[in-house]
Amino acid sequence: MMRAHLADSRIDRILISEEQIAARVTELGHRISCDYAARDLVLITVLKGGTIFLADLCRRIDTVHSIDFMAVSSYGPGAGGAVAITKDLDDAIEDRDVLMVEDIIDTGLTLNYLLKVLRQRRPASLAVCTLLDKDVRRLVDLPIEYRGFEVPDRFLVGYGLDLDGIWRNLPSVATLREEVWDG
Ligand code: IMP
Ligand code: MG
Repeated sequence: MMRAHLADSRIDRILISEEQIAARVTELGHRISCDYAARDLVLITVLKGGTIFLADLCRRIDTVHSIDFMAVSSYGPGAGGAVAITKDLDDAIEDRDVLMVEDIIDTGLTLNYLLKVLRQRRPASLAVCTLLDKDVRRLVDLPIEYRGFEVPDRFLVGYGLDLDGIWRNLPSVATLREEVWDG
């Protein structure tokens, strides 16, 4: 079936299909369910990119848990990953088992900063689950306990990832033609 967005000339090709994502999310959810059985789990994601993955992942986790959200705004490339928290978590995380759920980890600077902030709140544990890992671009060493896919250094859209606010709704992860973003 031809989908309208795939006919968009700015989209290059599908890198990870809807079916591949669904299978991997199921596997990750199963591992998380085993690892966090009888723990006090809260899944946290950063608006807006992580919401699509979080929504699918949490329905593949069959242990009791809650979800919470943060929003940040970047100070720009010179800030070493420091961000302003524009929406903080609704609930305290002290003594809880926190799993940060990310759409993609690129340089890792943003997440590294957020992990420092969250660690100061004394959670019982703090771990990272990312759907996509653009590991060749990493600038800081980050422990990643759960990883969906390693991806190349290309600009990706879909399944939560956007360019200027659009294409988050694509069910698959796609690459853009270089001229769309490399200019
Ligand atoms: P970093 O790891 O601090 O460099 O930033 C990660 C954030 O950059 C992600 O949460 C995305 O919002 C954004 N990002 C990185 N790579 C891509 C991409 O290929 N497409 C869309 N957004 C991206
Ligand atoms: Mg993001």
